[in-house]
Parts: sequence; C-alpha cells; structure tokens
Amino acid sequence: MRPLSPLSTNLEGMPTEKSYLAGDVITGYVRSLVVNEPDVLRRLREETALHPDAVMQIPADQGLLFEVLLGLVGAKKTLEVGVFTGYSSTVTALALPPDGHVFACDVSDEFTSVARRYWAEAGVSDKITLRLGPAAETLKQLLAEGHGASLDFAFIDADKEAYDTYYELTLPLIRPGGLIVLDNMLRHGEVVNPNVSEPGSLALRKLNEKLARDTRVRAVLLPVIDGVTLAWKKPG
Ligand SMILES: C[S@@+](CC[C@H](N)C(=O)[O-])C[C@H]1O[C@@H](n2cnc3c(N)ncnc32)[C@H](O)[C@@H]1O
Repeated sequence: MRPLSPLSTNLEGMPTEKSYLAGDVITGYVRSLVVNEPDVLRRLREETALHPDAVMQIPADQGLLFEVLLGLVGAKKTLEVGVFTGYSSTVTALALPPDGHVFACDVSDEFTSVARRYWAEAGVSDKITLRLGPAAETLKQLLAEGHGASLDFAFIDADKEAYDTYYELTLPLIRPGGLIVLDNMLRHGEVVNPNVSEPGSLALRKLNEKLARDTRVRAVLLPVIDGVTLAWKKPG
C-alpha cells in the first residue's frame, strides 16, 4: 500500500482538466486516497501523463469506482468502447474473476500498443480481446457472434458524436440487470452551455435527455470527474 502523498507533489493531485467539478484541492484529496492502486496501473498512468492526449485517460479514482461497480454487478464478461493506452481496460480485467473477459474496441493500433504492453505486465492479456476497427462494426459483430444479453458491464468512452449509436448497439449485448457506464457526459460543463455548438457536446446533451426518459434503463448522471452516467438495464 502506498502512503498518502502530499497533495502538492503527487501525480493525482496535479490540476487536471477533469477536476473542474470539485476543484483541484478536493480532487487532489480524493485521488490521494486511492492508496492501493496496483503498481502496474500507476506506471501506466505515469507513462500516459507524458502523452499529448493524456487527458483522455480516466483518473485513478474513476478506476476505483469501476472496481466497485464491477464487484456490485458481479461482472464476468465486459465491453469497453475506447481503450487508448489501456488504463480502464486494465483496471477492469484485474477486477474480474480468473474466467472473466473484456471485449475491447479501438481504432488505434498506436494507442493500443501501449495498452497491450501493460495488459501483459499486469498478467491480463488472456482476459482481453482487442478488436481494432470502428466500434459500431465491432458491436454489430459481437451481437452476430451470439453475445446478445450476455455482458454484465460496458464502458463507453470513445468519439462523443457516436455515443448514442454505441449505446443502442451495446444495450442488446447487456444482460438484464447489467450496467452501461458512459464517460464525459458533462463534457467539461459544455452540456449546460446554451451557446455551445461543438457537435460532441450537443450529442451528449441530447443523449442525457434521452437516457433520462429511456424506459429500458434507469440512468443517473453522477457529477463526478467529467460526468459519469450509470445506465442500469432493467432486470426483466
Ligand atoms: C477517451 S479515449 C479512451 C480512454 C480509455 N478508456 C482510458 O481509460 O484510458 C477514446 C479512445 O476511443 C478511440 N476511438 C475513437 N473513435 C473510435 C471509433 N470509431 N471506434 C473505436 N474506438 C474509437 C480512440 O482511438 C481513443 O483511444
């Protein structure tokens, strides 16, 4: 277990684009309490922090949230749309039982080459199938391959304009009582900006309104990190 580190010096305590909701001090405090992050995940986070697109990575406290959610739904078979350098997929695979599995979708061989390296280091390569290609096609393939209503958990964290498509293609793959988690649903606050014209923010605002009324799920948008929506597929 790592000791609590001073807020001013640890990586978690650095001001990040994702700390706008709680402020840097509270965000740093919350992240400083993530004390038993496996060493492999800490190294992955530190390597990714040097990447020009580092802000795309989920933070350590979100990884811990996933660990809790995966445990609560008893997850064995999961899906990830948007792998990047692999933080969320590695957290997920580590949290699953030995016979658990992650279907991981991304378009970038370059980003996911980092992920593959860390999956190997974490000893979870056998628990993850990477499908390189547009996620919408992969999701259709998974359904055609017979994975319908069999996944316990899905995490959607890729191109924002396609979130609704990913949601609609993921829902039939999820078992009743399973969970879909959608990231960046506050879009750095842009979803409440009346003058916003950026297509991703407009798409997520529309999806938030749709999810609120969607009778197939019970969805709640948690105002943590950059807005994390939990869409729980109604059992039966
Ligand atoms: C926000 S990052 C994912 C971050 C990751 N979940 C993590 O914890 O580090 C978004 C990823 O979506 C991928 N992506 C973008 N468009 C995609 C598409 N059409 N299909 C699949 N993946 C896509 C990008 O290559 C990028 O790696």
